[in-house]
Amino acid sequence: MTRGSLLVDHIGELVTNDGRDGDPLGVRREAALLIEDGQVAWVGSARDAPAADRRIDAGGAAVLPGFVDSHAHLVFAGDRAAEFAARMAGERYTGGGIRTTVGATRAASDDALRASVGRLRAEMLRQGTTTVEIKSGYGLTVADEARSLRIAAEFTDDTTFLGAHVVPAEYADRPDDYVGLVCGPMLAAAAPYARWIDVFCERGAFDADHARAILDCGQAAGLGVRLHANQLGPGPGVRLGVELGAASVDHCTHLTDADVDALAGSETVATLLPGAEFSTRSPYPDARRLLDAGVTVALATDCNPGSSYTSSMPFCVALAVREMRMTPAEAVWAATAGGAAALRRTDVGRLTPGARADLIILDAPSHLHLAYRPGVPLIRQVLHNGVPR
Ligand code: NIG
Ligand code: FE
Repeated sequence: MTRGSLLVDHIGELVTNDGRDGDPLGVRREAALLIEDGQVAWVGSARDAPAADRRIDAGGAAVLPGFVDSHAHLVFAGDRAAEFAARMAGERYTGGGIRTTVGATRAASDDALRASVGRLRAEMLRQGTTTVEIKSGYGLTVADEARSLRIAAEFTDDTTFLGAHVVPAEYADRPDDYVGLVCGPMLAAAAPYARWIDVFCERGAFDADHARAILDCGQAAGLGVRLHANQLGPGPGVRLGVELGAASVDHCTHLTDADVDALAGSETVATLLPGAEFSTRSPYPDARRLLDAGVTVALATDCNPGSSYTSSMPFCVALAVREMRMTPAEAVWAATAGGAAALRRTDVGRLTPGARADLIILDAPSHLHLAYRPGVPLIRQVLHNGVPR
């Protein structure tokens, strides 16, 4: 880690997410930010900036917290480009392709998987993502889930055991036995490397009873709960997640009023993944409905080779604004502070004293440009733990 203090000066617009004066983004103009020991040490007006060992001149640009991508499936081998092409020609997404990736992942060496995760993590960092959650879920044997999480843990503290992604082919006729395996030896092998447990609760994957059984075991093993819910159709996932105190229920594409009410009365974050609707040509979730009900909303990439092969949070911000009725400010908040809330983290997703010095200097004067200039590489510089990357 770099020693000594670093001043980021001449910031035209600083997004702090401090919620000051009723502005969730906590925007400060003509600001400066001091970094010491990898943390934000001071934030204020550029006029009052303290002396520092080193200085970065932001040149009047916007600075925001690094993105917190709270939902990504990075441990896999192969890709499914042909499946994407077929969908764009009219085929429907069912999740059936997950088994294709399971086959490729089982056949890959540890080194190949590690190199692939490293490449995707680097791709994310270049696009401003400084915190990422990484799931298993393409191994689906005791050994392959454990090694997926061991490799994921080399890249992040937010690792998620998703042994209940689908029932693998060899258990197709015995789903109860597979749930027993997930709750027993697979969980035991995975738990030392995992912070969270997740289930794909959906028709064709795991029903509410199986999901509850698996999440109960995970909680008993000390893991926090998150859930894939209501992606392909209405279902019990969202209400189950709220009942179990999940940190987040993810996708939330098909919600009833009862689902929205349950979320609104809870601490559970609704994480929306517009890359999945884009890549499966599906209707987008209605973020406005959730926000108006008072639900905390996060945005994440869902980066995976099947339903959403994007690692780009700026792309998701632009989609959320254009297609999901979010304002640019709401989308930027959801991609930073919202992601932190979905991971129950207070050290990231904000630029306030004591937070980790994870920040983005944009090639633009305002956060608005992330949605206003879609597809443009606006990330000029990323600092991670206070270190320029
Ligand atoms: O979040 N929905 C389940 N899992 C992934 C898709 C995985 C795949 O198609 O490989 C998702 O969209
Ligand atoms: Fe997912």
